[in-house]
Amino acid sequence: AALAAQWAALDAVRPIAEGRFLSRPGVFAWDRIDPASALLAQHLPADLAGHAADLGAGFGYLSAELLTRCPHIHALDLFEAERRALDLARRNLAGFEQRAEAGPRIGYHWHDVTTGLPQAYDVIVSNPPFHTQSRADRPDIGRRFIAVAAEALKP
Ligand SMILES: C[S@@+](CC[C@H](N)C(=O)[O-])C[C@H]1O[C@@H](n2cnc3c(N)ncnc32)[C@H](O)[C@@H]1O
Repeated sequence: AALAAQWAALDAVRPIAEGRFLSRPGVFAWDRIDPASALLAQHLPADLAGHAADLGAGFGYLSAELLTRCPHIHALDLFEAERRALDLARRNLAGFEQRAEAGPRIGYHWHDVTTGLPQAYDVIVSNPPFHTQSRADRPDIGRRFIAVAAEALKP
């Protein structure tokens, strides 16, 4: 029992990035902000507006940046294949919906993005996966993310 408790503790949800996010081992870049995601966030135009989607949302970093930097996003759908990451994103973004003024509507979808998206969007952000969890190269997954995003963007 002691060993089982010790193992379970290794997987505990914990604060990262100076307490800004909750994360846990096993999800993408679990103990840090991914530098590529941070670079993308720095270049998000502040005038992005409307209904947005985040493809492969992980624990919610890019979504949090989008909602912080782009005040005209009124709704956001997160799509993520790893349920453990999606559950973290739900906790990490809870503060945006609880704002005093009307916050954005946020949807959380446990979904394989390569199968397509259920609706069209004004804005799509993504740092697509180009590897499997084992780090094996899978450029086809990232390419498919980009194709799915292109199909789902409103003109
Ligand atoms: C490069 S990470 C980006 C995570 C997060 N958006 C960020 O910027 O830190 C890509 C994410 O895509 C997810 N993913 C991989 N294959 C997927 C699929 N087929 N459908 C949905 N999400 C997938 C991974 O679990 C991972 O969280």
